[in-house]
Amino acid sequence: MKLSEYAKHLLLAPNLEDKLFTPAKHWDEEIDDKPLRIQKPGRSHLIQFSDKKVKIPRLEHLNLESNKGLTLHHFANHELMAIELFAWAILAFPNAPKSIRNGWVKTIEEEQTHLKLYINRMNDFGVQFGDIPLNYIFWKQLEQFHTLESFSAVMSLSFEGANLDYSQVYAKVFSYFGDLKTSEIMLTIFEDEVKHVKRGVRAFEKSIPPEKNSWEYYLTLIQFPFTPRRAKGYLFFPETRYLAGLDQDFVNHLSNYEDKYTGRVNLESVKKFGLGSELMRKNRLDSLTNRL
Ligand SMILES: [Fe+2]
Ligand SMILES: [Fe+2]
Repeated sequence: MKLSEYAKHLLLAPNLEDKLFTPAKHWDEEIDDKPLRIQKPGRSHLIQFSDKKVKIPRLEHLNLESNKGLTLHHFANHELMAIELFAWAILAFPNAPKSIRNGWVKTIEEEQTHLKLYINRMNDFGVQFGDIPLNYIFWKQLEQFHTLESFSAVMSLSFEGANLDYSQVYAKVFSYFGDLKTSEIMLTIFEDEVKHVKRGVRAFEKSIPPEKNSWEYYLTLIQFPFTPRRAKGYLFFPETRYLAGLDQDFVNHLSNYEDKYTGRVNLESVKKFGLGSELMRKNRLDSLTNRL
């Protein structure tokens, strides 16, 4: 099988099992290297896009199993879109360096693991994937993906970057409610996402022009109304971005960034959990990132 055939399968085959099809270890040689920009993934009726808004449950309500299931469903949807969009990038940027394309394949395989982890755990809470409307927030950014650098800025530095904060928040809150099993899942995903952001940083940093720093370059790659606010959670854990290889200037700018949507989350309810700035399972992560 060629890598491009595999990517097309992930994108166009309609069923959840298709999206979970594991990548091969070796690929046949590609003959055609024309960019292909697929506008929409194939999705069976069970996993269709929806414009219905579903709110994610509040942190203080995560003592209830039904709310835990809903929350994991929300995260699982992100994983499904990530699988499809990294496959999209393989087809849209056929001339990307081999190391970057190989990185996308590894990322796809890890996103598939994340999706399965979330689905299995939401099933424990009585929720099936597809029970709740699936938004397509990542797919809505397609027009921003002009180059592999803009793709990496939006998908990896922004969405996956924000997930570093959210996976820490939820690992802490699930553990606060005594659900160590779900907390552990969040940390497994956190550790993988550090690698994903790192892969994005590598794809992006090669083309930083000499007159710009990484933050200025990042700003040129994203398009309003998408702003750097999308690159962080309502709580920001700067250390996670250093682990992912971002520089101090970038992290400071991101930390200080505000726009008119900042502060819409009721941080009082977040504070109640006493979520400190320390990372969960930091020691294990240090040894992990040293090996990368
Ligand atoms: Fe993921
Ligand atoms: Fe990821």
